[in-house]
Amino acid sequence: MKINTNLAKLPAGYLFAEVAKRVKAYSARHPEADILRLGIGDVTRPLAPAVVEAMKRAADEMGTPQGFHGYSPDFGYDWLINAIIAGDYAPRGVQIAPDEVFISDGAKSDVGNLQELFGPDAKIAVTDPVYPVYVDSNAMAGRLGEYAEGKWTGLTYLPCNAENGFMPPLPETRVDVVYLCYPNNPTGTVLTKEQLRVFVDWALENEALIVYDAAYKAFISDPAVPRSIYEVPGADKCAIECCSFSKTAGFTGTRCAYTVVPKALTYGGVSLNRIWGRRQATKFNGVSYITQRAAQAVYSEAGQRQIMETIEYYRGNARVILDGLRQAGILAFGGVHSPYVWMKTPGDMPSWDFFDLLLTRAHVVGTPGEGFGPAGEGYFRLTAFNTLENTEAAVERIISVL
Ligand code: MLT
Repeated sequence: MKINTNLAKLPAGYLFAEVAKRVKAYSARHPEADILRLGIGDVTRPLAPAVVEAMKRAADEMGTPQGFHGYSPDFGYDWLINAIIAGDYAPRGVQIAPDEVFISDGAKSDVGNLQELFGPDAKIAVTDPVYPVYVDSNAMAGRLGEYAEGKWTGLTYLPCNAENGFMPPLPETRVDVVYLCYPNNPTGTVLTKEQLRVFVDWALENEALIVYDAAYKAFISDPAVPRSIYEVPGADKCAIECCSFSKTAGFTGTRCAYTVVPKALTYGGVSLNRIWGRRQATKFNGVSYITQRAAQAVYSEAGQRQIMETIEYYRGNARVILDGLRQAGILAFGGVHSPYVWMKTPGDMPSWDFFDLLLTRAHVVGTPGEGFGPAGEGYFRLTAFNTLENTEAAVERIISVL
């Protein structure tokens, strides 16, 4: 059997699996260690009561002959799609048609699967550091060349760092697809509408595509910061947007998301909306009725109030991390419109060394910046998705180790 050698070329483990492996090994050697986890961005607060109620109701319906549901419509139930448009787009003046929204089980799967729309030799650019799924999924498809000295030879990296204020530069060579994620994972920074417009204008001019990951948009607290790329005129002709209920409503274990593929998006006369629909109908069998009812409840009045209380709780944790680190003289970014704080390692220490130092001396887990790409070296990511008590304790421990 001839295997997919592109998969075999991937370096080490998937970032968060690697972190989990190291933490597990340390815990096994030191079972007494009280480890505080600010590593993977996994939510910890319970689901909103309105969501739980909707799930229970839907489960009861499923147990009756009249209320039973088999396969969901390929791209999701109309009532959920309409709730998304009314709740997430109409208030921002963005017009999206129901058949431009595709319900799925996660933004991670969608951003990983979307690369099936691109030709085998499409040129890809990512901001650096970056959520590893964009890179790894394109590497699996053989689009990125070879992995050597921490970089893919065929990938265009757009470095984002303290020096350029985390604004990615435009690609200098021909690129077909750029992945943007805002609020950014991992740096926690945002782009203004004007900064985003630079990329939209570039994509339109170059007939390129932007894959825009807006998984963290619920954390934006300033109305002037765009929550959707479609707030920028022309973006419907050059951008796909992926959104998720994971961070918005605590659905990391419940699984529901959506991707917007506008009908205006055509390349070489082919509609991406049509071929994405074709792809999804073939390979995906929809999200459960119970889960889609749960997602719909996020948009109810009670649901909105309850999810915002939780987001506010995490925002408070992010402030504790950001303020604590800054007061201790550490350079730290993000954490305002995002659950992530991106800190400089002390004395430019390699980020995996800093990971080991914090794990062994402070019993605190974070994510090494290098795992997000070469420009992440010398940085470290902490998440706000823990309890306030654990967050405060973690910050104290980090500062005392430093
Ligand atoms: C992260 O920690 O970056 C995220 O939790 C990963 C994800 O959402 O898949």
